Amino acid sequence: MKTLTLRRPDDWHLHLRDGDVLKAVIGDTSRHFARAIIMPNLVPPVVTTSDARAYRERILAALPAGDRFEPLMTLYLTEHTDPDDVEEGGKSGLISAVKLYPAGATTNSHGGVRDFNKAMPVLERMAKIGLPLCVHGEVTTPEVDIFDREAVFIETVLDPLRKRLPELKVTMEHVTTADGIDYIKSSERNLAGSITTHHLIINRNAILVGGIRPHYYCLPVAKRENHRLALRAAATSGDARFFLGTDSAPHVDPLKECACGCAGIYTSVNTMSCLAHVFEDDNALDKLEAFTSLNGPAWYGLKPNEETITLEKRDGPVKFPDKRDSGAGPITVFDPMFPLHWDVA
Ligand code: DOR
Ligand code: ZN
Repeated sequence: MKTLTLRRPDDWHLHLRDGDVLKAVIGDTSRHFARAIIMPNLVPPVVTTSDARAYRERILAALPAGDRFEPLMTLYLTEHTDPDDVEEGGKSGLISAVKLYPAGATTNSHGGVRDFNKAMPVLERMAKIGLPLCVHGEVTTPEVDIFDREAVFIETVLDPLRKRLPELKVTMEHVTTADGIDYIKSSERNLAGSITTHHLIINRNAILVGGIRPHYYCLPVAKRENHRLALRAAATSGDARFFLGTDSAPHVDPLKECACGCAGIYTSVNTMSCLAHVFEDDNALDKLEAFTSLNGPAWYGLKPNEETITLEKRDGPVKFPDKRDSGAGPITVFDPMFPLHWDVA
């Protein structure tokens, strides 16, 4: 049997939600991952250091007995965020990053930023203390086509912001376009990108061909095949500027299978199996550890995990559950549309 041992991976972009859903999904991450950057787009959002401290406690309380997992907390940037609170959270080690949602870009983002000038005092403080900004990189301008929103964001928001504040460390999250990959590669410092599992596997056909498939709908929406190939090339290259952020985003089925379904794909269950498949397909299994376990910690100024996990390639396909039950309803697990043979031992 083929096996592959890696440093224990981390997930640099994860939605855990709260309450019943948190309890149902946390084990799917803590089973394989040592740490994760936790998204703050709860209802209401995690806006202050004190909100983050309380949410961290709820996450730790929901962990399955015996699991060791470190939630790396983020704050949801608003136009009223207090720079002193951010500095205090960052310096105390509780806050690992601040998350920028352009208002209206995605799930629970209405409290995000409309006028970037209003966020400048916080961003300046973050640049000063070296606290990274995690960016949902899409404009929300109604005239801009949804498939172009990432490229337009880079040109009209991200690049001007980085020129204004070159010392600000920016993680461009869930990169979905060749434009995003090229932009990150063009920068020598203070810019890196996370890539999801599903954007390495699906293109926009998955959502729309043969019927509308809500379980492949997420934001930023999957793009054309040439963009997926650019993401694959970046992820499997070993380039330290690219690392895994699954953006695993559970929603119960009734909220996805309806006239206006939520964005989000739940990939925590089978992410490592999917990634081993992708990297093997691209003859890059030797680069998997950099993507899942080394590049992310280096970017966030942390040590890689000491522990390891071992992946095994089985002859027959590995079975994963189709759904994860939560007290709030079933959550559909990502189906990569090919059989998976790798599993974590
Ligand atoms: O697909 C997504 N789901 N993209 C996001 O940016 C948010 C996330 C969520 O919270 O469901
Ligand atoms: Zn997300």
